[in-house]
Amino acid sequence: MTDTKKSIHGEWSSRSAFILAATGSAVGLGNIWKFPYITGEHGGGAFVIVYLLCVALIGIPIMIAETLLGRRGRENPVNTMQLLSAEAEQDPRWQYVGWVGMAAGLLILSYYSVIAGWASAYVFKAFTGSFFNADAAAIKQLFSDFIGSPLQLIFWHTLFMAATLFIVARGVDKGLEKSVRILMPGLFILLILLVMYAMTTSGYFQGIHFLFSFDFSKLTGNAILIAMGQAFFSLGLGMGCVMAYGAYLPNDISIAKTSIIIAAVDTLVALLAGIIIFPIVFTYQLNPGSGPGLIFETLPIAFGTMTGGWLFGVLFFIILVFAALSSAIALIEPTVSWLVENRGISRQRASLQAGGIAWLIGLATVFSFNAWAAFKPFGLTLFDLIDYVTANLMLPLGGLAIAIFVGWKMKQQHSAQELNIVDPEYFKLWLMLTKYLAPAAVFLVFLHVVGVL
Ligand code: PFF
Repeated sequence: MTDTKKSIHGEWSSRSAFILAATGSAVGLGNIWKFPYITGEHGGGAFVIVYLLCVALIGIPIMIAETLLGRRGRENPVNTMQLLSAEAEQDPRWQYVGWVGMAAGLLILSYYSVIAGWASAYVFKAFTGSFFNADAAAIKQLFSDFIGSPLQLIFWHTLFMAATLFIVARGVDKGLEKSVRILMPGLFILLILLVMYAMTTSGYFQGIHFLFSFDFSKLTGNAILIAMGQAFFSLGLGMGCVMAYGAYLPNDISIAKTSIIIAAVDTLVALLAGIIIFPIVFTYQLNPGSGPGLIFETLPIAFGTMTGGWLFGVLFFIILVFAALSSAIALIEPTVSWLVENRGISRQRASLQAGGIAWLIGLATVFSFNAWAAFKPFGLTLFDLIDYVTANLMLPLGGLAIAIFVGWKMKQQHSAQELNIVDPEYFKLWLMLTKYLAPAAVFLVFLHVVGVL
């Protein structure tokens, strides 16, 4: 809150370190695993357009707003909201934004770890040559045998969670920063290589057409909600992660510029993933709407047949695991920093407690793919339900609250001071988007889904 206040957890060593870590949080399973499969489920092009609009008009302004709250408060999301609501002479209940965010983070982490566990298992499958010359049917069978085994899923889920906790326990600069520095550039290079492969497949144009042609007749209210939820999920917004990371941001770094860079990289990675996956889907006549298994049922076919496929396969899944790790550490950070700051326990203990809870809830996701697959409250498996509630309801609601707080409750002079945007026109544009457009858009989508609009 003062210019000199620093987080007790330390700070990012530079602007590039923050960009890397925040990009690491944004780029993850959401881009490479989730974006293609939900795009496939919702018919492609029109869904992608709505997604891009959500990122530009809602995501970026809210990302700027959430980061500025974090840097001004310099504590965990609950304390930050408490401090800033006091500063703005507002109701202390704004701190619930932090609480809901922490809950959403642990819930998302619970299934995130299971899916990242799949990716970890696929590193070994790629390494041991399981995909070699396998056809689409064999790859599909391999996947369904795998997710049909709770023991295997629990094993990989546990391993991934342990790796996450190990990094988080080491702290901001030693753990978080180091891991992303090497991984992000590696991910990028590999994606470009795979795009080059996709361009050689016979389904390339059909895949591109699917991704970028807009048939708005396929777009339902629910699809728009899911596109918006995905924008929040992929940018990692609305749940205090960005706030927690913003708390470690030095004062002289431009929040607006970094937010735009992060959103652009995040969107590019998602589009690249789509450009890789859909051509393979159409080349092998697979179903683009086949759900969460999509990348696990498509990419291995490519790795099994292409030259150098063994190496690319191993590298791809390793990088996917690391992209997931750099997001998982962000998902848990709000709770860990809350435990450290408010309960006075060590980072190690805090990581263990928060991770233990997420691990336990993750078992519901594990069983939703096998033993409990038939258990469908509201017509959704437990995995789908947790995903739906967190991404499509909790995150947009958190984002809505953040936009309203920053746009309407916080003193404008304080937000202007944090953002320090030189051109007043740009500041005005951001303020208009945060004050009116972003909250109105989230609200309208909600109304549409509950059938009022
Ligand atoms: N943005 C991450 C992804 O796309 O995989 C997931 C995520 C990370 C969501 C951090 C929320 C978050 F706070």
